[in-house]
Amino acid sequence: MPARQSGPSRPAILFVCLGNICRSPLAEGAFRARATAAGLDVMADSAGTGDWHVGHPPDPRAQAVARANGVDISGLRARQVRLDDFTRFSHIFAADHANLGNLRRLAPDPSPAELALLLDLVKGRQGQAVADPYYGDAQDFARSWAEVDAAAQALVARLLNH
Ligand code: 4NP
Repeated sequence: MPARQSGPSRPAILFVCLGNICRSPLAEGAFRARATAAGLDVMADSAGTGDWHVGHPPDPRAQAVARANGVDISGLRARQVRLDDFTRFSHIFAADHANLGNLRRLAPDPSPAELALLLDLVKGRQGQAVADPYYGDAQDFARSWAEVDAAAQALVARLLNH
């Protein structure tokens, strides 16, 4: 983890899921909000390993749960992971094991960016996935929000302590 919080080597965080319309934009929104509240200068983005939703705004259910928690993610647009993400970002967090596996296959070896599961950041949740809420309901989106927000809080604490 880099120690600096500003300048060219400030932490650069990429959140990755499958479609980039549910979990990773929620994680980006939660992290931006938590970082801003903590006065932390970071670069954050999100992307999907799949390309089906490129250019689309976050799923309306994701927008709704973020809005209910005071975070506006309506301006985000989905994009697919690119090779230069592994050099542009210092840390890449995947929502689940399938996406982490796909990132590892895409990444240069060794990867310049640290690759990990998003819930590895959360005490007691290491090695676990943020379940895909796409085929679920509002309760599933609420759980996704709680999980990515816990990770966002833990990441901000970790960055502040370095
Ligand atoms: P996400 O959710 O990976 O959290 O953005 C999904 C969004 C779309 C699809 C799957 C998961 N899909 O199959 O289109």
